[in-house]
Amino acid sequence: MITSAFFVLEKYPTFTSMKLIIINGPNLNLLGKREPEVYGNTTFEDYFKQLQEKFPQAELEYYQSNIEGEIIGKIQEVGFDYDGIILNAAAYTHTSVGIGDAVKAVTTPVVEVHISNTHKREEYRHVSYISPGAKGVILGFGLQSYDLAIRSFLS
Ligand code: DQA
Repeated sequence: MITSAFFVLEKYPTFTSMKLIIINGPNLNLLGKREPEVYGNTTFEDYFKQLQEKFPQAELEYYQSNIEGEIIGKIQEVGFDYDGIILNAAAYTHTSVGIGDAVKAVTTPVVEVHISNTHKREEYRHVSYISPGAKGVILGFGLQSYDLAIRSFLS
């Protein structure tokens, strides 16, 4: 009897959803309007709704700021508690030692994402201060980069 109870517990573990946050950096509040040939026509708010519908097993949150210190503050706030951070630091990717240090400082794994393939673009976009502290990097798949990052946490 005891053996079969163990079997049931192992086979059907208690369901707890993953707490994931998407943190977007400067100018990503303009998605849909900003350089649509590079970033597409969809607003992030609309895309985020699609992600919530697609991944009901995850508790998804979204935060955007144009301010470096606010992004660092958010990473510190969630970074010892949440299951994953999906970070598109946008232009700060290529300049911010502070955000790079915050990514290294926290215990929550961070997946770096970019909508565009930054390596195909200007040389200053080839450098990332985020990558050395990131669990992984997903770039160049359009908005789908976020979808793939969520899957990386769920799989
Ligand atoms: C970006 C790429 C960055 O170089 C740029 O500054 C952005 C967006 C991307 O998602 O493709 O703002 O992070």
